[in-house]
Amino acid sequence: MARFDFDTPVNRKGTLSYKWDSEARFMGETDVLPMWVADMDFRCPQPMLDALQTRIAHGVLGYTKRGDRYYDIMQAWLKRRFDWSVDKKWLCYCPPGVIPAVAILLDILTRPGDPVLMHMPNYDALYGAVTDMGRSLIRCPLIEDEEGFRMDFELFEKLLQEYKIKVMVFCSPHNPSGRVWRQDELERTGELCARYGVTVISDEVHCDLVYKPHIHTPLGKVKSMEQNSVTLMSPNKTFNVGGLMTASVIIPNGELMARYRKVLGTWAMNLDTTFGTIAVETLYSDPDCEAWLEAVLEYLGDNVTYAVDHINTRIKGVHTRCPEGTYLIWLDFKDTGLRGTALKEFLIREAKLDLSEGSEFDPEDQTHMRMNLACPRAVVREALSRLESAVNKRFPG
Ligand SMILES: Cc1ncc(COP(=O)(O)O)c(C=O)c1O
Repeated sequence: MARFDFDTPVNRKGTLSYKWDSEARFMGETDVLPMWVADMDFRCPQPMLDALQTRIAHGVLGYTKRGDRYYDIMQAWLKRRFDWSVDKKWLCYCPPGVIPAVAILLDILTRPGDPVLMHMPNYDALYGAVTDMGRSLIRCPLIEDEEGFRMDFELFEKLLQEYKIKVMVFCSPHNPSGRVWRQDELERTGELCARYGVTVISDEVHCDLVYKPHIHTPLGKVKSMEQNSVTLMSPNKTFNVGGLMTASVIIPNGELMARYRKVLGTWAMNLDTTFGTIAVETLYSDPDCEAWLEAVLEYLGDNVTYAVDHINTRIKGVHTRCPEGTYLIWLDFKDTGLRGTALKEFLIREAKLDLSEGSEFDPEDQTHMRMNLACPRAVVREALSRLESAVNKRFPG
């Protein structure tokens, strides 16, 4: 038997699961498979569950702060996984997660009405942080051609000049395209940002979920970006602990770090969640957790290859690409003629699948859907068979 079991389904219904218990999304239908929010259907690594259980058995759950152990573990993790040597002074955290850290940093770095550049499409809560805080979202659409998605550097520079951009929110690896930005792409981004004095908030929540031979490079590791970037990482996606609400914030610029720490104090966020701290420390240091990560990556990689091949060869009118990272695939339904609400209704009512709508990632998008493949292989097979049958029934011949 394999050392880690990702095949046996875990019933998550009735656990207040955001993914499984949001029936309001199902338009009154039953037996709908939820494959939307980026959350895995696998049990977490056992050493972390054990560490939490030990703490519960202890029985006292008072205020918690991160100590030296966290900083040592973080430094070692960043060196081991990304060959990135960071000074302890660069490390901080954000108890509620990556998106609250983005909001705090936008508040520090910009004023209402200021322009903030983002590549589009992009994760909705990320550009939502920009617009909800009254900043002006300057869209820099990615180019998609036969080779896949890439950044449009000419437009990027034009927008930096035209809007006098001082802040960019970056997503790396990119959600929803699954691109893992190459070193040369990051260096080119860094050169332009340095030239125009742009600070980059880099959301790297998917950084550990990258398929070989691709390699994730933290933006802060790119020399030209060191002093004008904030890198946000988290065990949230890596080990499926979204419910533990924790993120790490890496700020090499001392002045910006001081301002960030001050805001954490103002919002009484400088203490930590007990379970989040225990989780981060265990997940980033226990060799069995790292072995779990390697195993889950292999499993997810096989899910992705299987799904992409099935969709492109067997489902008429639906196209997708193999992501370089993340367990998400970005489906293009343009050739089916289905758009917007009609597409959503078709998927829920006829295919019984709940996917994330393209318009969440770009309000102008009507023809894409994002599918989450972090579930047992049998569920992926069932989902693709439902999609294939529904498409064949709707578009016979
Ligand atoms: C790109 C990206 N950033 C951030 C998050 C959420 O992070 P957190 O729950 O730590 O705020 C997600 C979740 O799907 C994501 O895809």
